[in-house]
Amino acid sequence: MSDHDTPAQAAKKLFIKTYGCQMNVYDSQRMAEAMGAEGYVLTENQSEADMVLLNTCHIREKAAEKLYSDLGRLKPLKAERPDLKIGVAGCVAQAEGEEIVRRMPVVDLVVGPQTYHRLPAMVRGEAPKIITDFPEEDKFDHLPQQRATRRAPAAFLTVQEGCDKFCAFCVVPYTRGAEVSRPVERIMREARDLVARGVREITLLGQNVNGWHGMGEDGREWGFGRLIRALGEAEGLERIRYTTSHPNDMADDLIEAHRDVPQLMPYLHLPVQSGSDRILKAMNRKHTAEQYLRLIDRIRDARPDIMLTSDFIVGFPGETDQDHQDTLRLIEQVDFGTAFSFKYSPRPGTPAYERAEVDGAVADARLQELQALLTRQQKAAQEGMVGRTVGVLLEKQGREAGQMIGKSDYLHSVFVDTTTAQIGDLLQVRIIESASNSLHGKIVSAT
Ligand code: 5AD
Ligand code: SF4
Repeated sequence: MSDHDTPAQAAKKLFIKTYGCQMNVYDSQRMAEAMGAEGYVLTENQSEADMVLLNTCHIREKAAEKLYSDLGRLKPLKAERPDLKIGVAGCVAQAEGEEIVRRMPVVDLVVGPQTYHRLPAMVRGEAPKIITDFPEEDKFDHLPQQRATRRAPAAFLTVQEGCDKFCAFCVVPYTRGAEVSRPVERIMREARDLVARGVREITLLGQNVNGWHGMGEDGREWGFGRLIRALGEAEGLERIRYTTSHPNDMADDLIEAHRDVPQLMPYLHLPVQSGSDRILKAMNRKHTAEQYLRLIDRIRDARPDIMLTSDFIVGFPGETDQDHQDTLRLIEQVDFGTAFSFKYSPRPGTPAYERAEVDGAVADARLQELQALLTRQQKAAQEGMVGRTVGVLLEKQGREAGQMIGKSDYLHSVFVDTTTAQIGDLLQVRIIESASNSLHGKIVSAT
């Protein structure tokens, strides 16, 4: 190449910022692969990007507002480089559509979560600039994959999208639409493809993943437990996880899979939101605190060492001090490994939106009290690991030389001292120490 050649073949650069849940992380990866086929490579540096894609979250008000502050910061970059393409994807795109462009004219395209397969055509200018419909076809069938590229040892795989539960506080049924389960054959194909690319652990994703009921390879409908059993037979897949689940969809065959499938990790995220029957009813959760506790008993009977985690909302409209105490009591009864807790955020379009809110300072105080209890439980769970030998899948180098970081069976971050182990190794590790947010272990053997 002479000095005068322009680097016409140089790849264009794509910067993606992902907000919110793991489903968005998975979607961003798939969009990156689809744009890869269009000649875009990912960059970590927004200022050198030819295209910036913001994959957004609408679950709470604060999450949605982040989009607009980020777009505000992109204005000067676009003024400097008018060719820069700015796209908004994800649940804010779905919920607000055209409003985004009206409020922020720097935005070139808006694409809802069900139409990512149309993104390349949108970028080429061969499709509308705003697409937020709910098409019938499976978007993932139309998103190209870069089959040859190596992947990190732990990957996400979306098997189910959308939600029909309509909890009174939640935007998901509106932004992600009705529940759709992908068929077994496509899931197995994607899982085998991931394994061929170096993946050893797969987390099955869905807004209501344990409600998955897809067409089996035998032409019959399968339940989620059966899907997990089939994945347990997949050669080279060492670990299976899933998130996020609804208590009412913990079917018997799924609980039994926790007993029978060794690859299914002893970790379950099962949001309960509240421990008060009054509030659970107002939230439209369709179960009581007692039913949740009995369910936990059955899960623990099947897999006694399982680590349980949950989500909680404090300050839901109508929540009294007694309701809050009931939630604290449920937390004490279950003893969670860790949990996420949020102050209620009213979301336009949801049934709870118009209901009278709990005083903000009262909700803040309840959140603090609840988080302090959960932090104590988290610390105790972590300290309880000391002295135990657990599986650890190495995912990256540690900050210091001779150190690597992986995830335990129970999803704790674990530092191990090693100069010989590789990323992707699955090791038996004896835990010797618990630090603030991680564990420290010594390798016992490779598995
Ligand atoms: N306000 C606060 N938290 C919410 N979540 C969902 N919607 C809201 C809301 N409007 C929480 C729930 C859910 C998690 C993903 O986010 O706890 O399980
Ligand atoms: Fe939202 Fe989960 Fe309830 Fe569905 S089950 S409406 S995703 S909180």
